[in-house]
Amino acid sequence: MFGKLSDYSQDGQIVTLCYEKQSVYLHVLTDEIINIFVAYATKDHRSKAIEGDKEQKVAFTVEKAAKSSTFHAKRTTDGCEVMLTTSALICCIYDDFKLDFYDRDGNLLCADYRGKRIPRFTLQESFIEFIKKEGHDVDLSGSTDYPVQCVKVLDKGDCIYGLGDKTGPLNKRSYEYENWNSDIPDPHEDSFKSLYKSIPFFITLKEKGVYGIFYDNTFKSYFNFGKENDGYYSFGSDSGNLDYYFIGGDSMPKIVENYTYLTGRAPLPQKWTLGYHQSRWGYDSEETFRDIAGRLRDNRIPCDAIHFDIDYMEQYKVFTWNRERFDNPKTLIADFKKQGIKTVTIVDPGVKVEKGYSVYEEGLENDYYAKTPTGDTYVNAVWPGDAVYPDFGSPAVRTWWGSLFSFYTELGVAGIWNDMNEPASFNGPLPDDIVFTDEDRSSTHAEMHNVYGHNMAKATYEGWKNLTGKRPFVITRACYGGSQKYAVAWTGDNQSLWSHLRMAIPQQCNLGLSGMAYIGTDIGGFGADTTPELLARWVQVGCFSPLFRNHCAKGSMNQEPWLFGEEVLSIYRKYVKLRYSLLPYFYDLCRVCEQTGLPVIRPLVLHYENDINVRNLNDEFLVGESLLVAPVVDQGVTKRLVYLPEGIWYDYWTHEKYEGGQYYPADAPLSVCPLYVKAGAVLPKAPDQMYVDEIVNPKLILEVWPGIGSYVHYRDNGEDFAYRNGAYNEYLFENRDDGNLIIKKLHEGYEDYPKITLCRPVSQDI
Ligand code: GLC
Repeated sequence: MFGKLSDYSQDGQIVTLCYEKQSVYLHVLTDEIINIFVAYATKDHRSKAIEGDKEQKVAFTVEKAAKSSTFHAKRTTDGCEVMLTTSALICCIYDDFKLDFYDRDGNLLCADYRGKRIPRFTLQESFIEFIKKEGHDVDLSGSTDYPVQCVKVLDKGDCIYGLGDKTGPLNKRSYEYENWNSDIPDPHEDSFKSLYKSIPFFITLKEKGVYGIFYDNTFKSYFNFGKENDGYYSFGSDSGNLDYYFIGGDSMPKIVENYTYLTGRAPLPQKWTLGYHQSRWGYDSEETFRDIAGRLRDNRIPCDAIHFDIDYMEQYKVFTWNRERFDNPKTLIADFKKQGIKTVTIVDPGVKVEKGYSVYEEGLENDYYAKTPTGDTYVNAVWPGDAVYPDFGSPAVRTWWGSLFSFYTELGVAGIWNDMNEPASFNGPLPDDIVFTDEDRSSTHAEMHNVYGHNMAKATYEGWKNLTGKRPFVITRACYGGSQKYAVAWTGDNQSLWSHLRMAIPQQCNLGLSGMAYIGTDIGGFGADTTPELLARWVQVGCFSPLFRNHCAKGSMNQEPWLFGEEVLSIYRKYVKLRYSLLPYFYDLCRVCEQTGLPVIRPLVLHYENDINVRNLNDEFLVGESLLVAPVVDQGVTKRLVYLPEGIWYDYWTHEKYEGGQYYPADAPLSVCPLYVKAGAVLPKAPDQMYVDEIVNPKLILEVWPGIGSYVHYRDNGEDFAYRNGAYNEYLFENRDDGNLIIKKLHEGYEDYPKITLCRPVSQDI
C-alpha cells in the first residue's frame, strides 16, 4: 500500500519517510515517545487531547541500516532500511510502512503485522436472516478493515489494559471495542463495544517488556485485541489521519507517566470533593433536600456534598432554578454550607428550544449551536424536549458557556456535574454531517462527537476557574483522551446488579490506567433496585473510589443508607468513616497523580507486572501502593480467596501478618471488606469528622506498620491554586527497621499540624 521507502529526511525532531505512495512522519517527542503520523485526511497535525508543545530536546539518530544489521545480537533486522534510535527505543523502518519497535536491549516490543489477515470466524451470509428470526443480534465481527488502520503483532502472553471505561475484564485481549461515546441505559454487559467514554490509549504488557499506544483519532474507532485472530491486533477508524504515539518506558507506571505527560494529568482537587456525596435523581424539592441533609447528620454518616439532579431546574432548562419547589435556593445552599455540606448541580448540554429563554436566545443570536449542513440550527431532544447543542469545539462558545456559571457561583454552588454530553439525543442519533467547529475550522459531528463531552468539560472547568479562582470540581460522563485535565468522571448508568459491582473494579482500574484517575461508580447501582446486601458490599468498594457517591435513578428504590435496617446502616457508616479517616492518604494520592499521572485506584498488575498471577486479577485492587482491597462482590459470600503479591502484608482489621506471593482464604462477613496494608507503610490519617475540615487544623495521625518504608505526605489549603506558588508543606516519613519513625520537612509553605500522633497497630519486630 505504501510501497518502497524511497527516501527519508530529518527536520529537527521530525523524520519524514517518503514511501512511493505516501509520506509518513515520525516525530520524536521524548526518548520514550514517538508520534507516527500519516496525513490521510488533513495535512495539519492537531490533537484535541494534547495541549501545548510536548517536544523535549532529544538526542537521537536516524541512519540507513546496514544490510543484515544486527543489534545486541538478539534479533536480526533483515530488510530494515532505516533505524531511528533514541536512548530508550529503537525503531526499525521497513518498506511498505512497516515499523518495529525495540527497547535499547534489543527486545522486540512491538512489530507491525505483515501476514494476511485471517479472521478466525466469519458468519455465513445465509445464516444471518435465519438467526435474526429469534431476535438474535447479528454481530458481523470479522469484517475489520477500516479506511484508517494499523495492525500489530500480538505475541503469546501479551496482555492489554486501558481503553477507558469499557466493560469486560481488566485484560482486554481477545475482545473488541469501539470508540463512539454512547448513552446506553440497558444493563452494561461484557459484550458491549462502547460506553460513554472514548479514550484511545492502551498498554501492552509482554512477557518481557511493556509499551503503550495512544491512537489520537476522534472519529468512530475500532479496537480488535486479538479477537479477529490471536496473532495480531488492530486499531482503526472510519476517517481522519493515522496518528498514534508509541510510548515506551521500563515499567507500566512509566508508561502511564508518559501517557499523562502527553495528554495531561488530573489536577489536585479541592479536599472536600474527596468526601462522601449523596445523590438521587428524584430529590425534587427544598423539603426533600433538607430532609436528606438532616438524616445524614442524624445518622452520623459523614458527608461533604449533596447533588442536585435535573429536578432542581425549571422544565429542565439549564441555568434556571425551579422557584415553586425551591423557595430560596441561595438560603438552602447557605444552610447546607453551615452544616458542612456543599452543593453540586447538574448541567446538561442540551438547551431547551423556547422563545424568551435567555440562554437559548443568546446562543441563537451569536450562532453558538451546531447546525445542519444547510445552515439551520440543529434540533434534537433531551430532557427539556426539543433542544439545541452548544458547539463546544468553538473557543467563543466555551467562553460564553463558562461565563454562564456565574448563575451557580452567585448562589453558592460548589461544583458542576456535566451529564448527557456524549451528546445524548432522544430523537435518534445526530447525523454525521451536522456541522460543529474544531477550534478555528468547520468540522462535523463524525469528527467532534467523541470530544463533545471533553470540550464541554473544558468550557465548564475554565469558566469555573475564572469565576471562583478555586480548583474547579467538574464531573463528566463523556470523555476523550486528556479529559482528566478538566473533569473527574463517573461510570454512568450502572444498575443495582452484582455483575455491575464486579465490573466496577476492572472498569475503574482501566480508567485509571487511561489517565482518568479521579473516578467512581454510582454506589448501590443507578438503575434497578438495590438490596441491603448489595448496598453494604458496594460501599466497601465505593469508599475507595476517588469519587465516592451514592446515586440512583428516579423510579428505582431509594437507596439512602438508613433505609435498610440497623446492620446495613452501621456497615455503611463504618466504611464512610474509614474513608474519612484515610482522607489525608487519598489527598496525597491525588498529589502524586498530579505529578506522575498514577491513578488512585490501581490494578495489582501496575506495581507487580512480572507476577503472572495478577495479570488477569479482576476482583482486587490497590489504593496507592500501601493498601490492597479484596472486596466481596458476590451475593451470599462471606469468605473469599485473596492473592497477595510479593512482600509482607498485614490484615488491616486483624493485624495478622502474611507472606506475599500466595493465595489466602479470608473471612468476610457482611461487615468486613478484606483489606491489607503493605509492610513498612505509613498511613496518614485524620481524626473523626462529619465533613472535611469540620475540625479546623486537625492533628495528623500516622499509622505506622512494621517494616521499612518511606512516605511523602502533602498538605495545603485544599481549595485554590496557591500551592502552585509554593503554599504547601511536604513531609517525609521514614519508617526504619530499628523501630523509629523519622520525620523530615521537605517543603515549608503552609501552616503546620498542631500535633502529629503515632499509632502502631502492630509492634515492630526489631
Ligand atoms: C442520566 C445520568 C444520571 C442522571 C439522569 C437524570 O441518566 O447518567 O446520572 O441521574 O440522567 O439527570
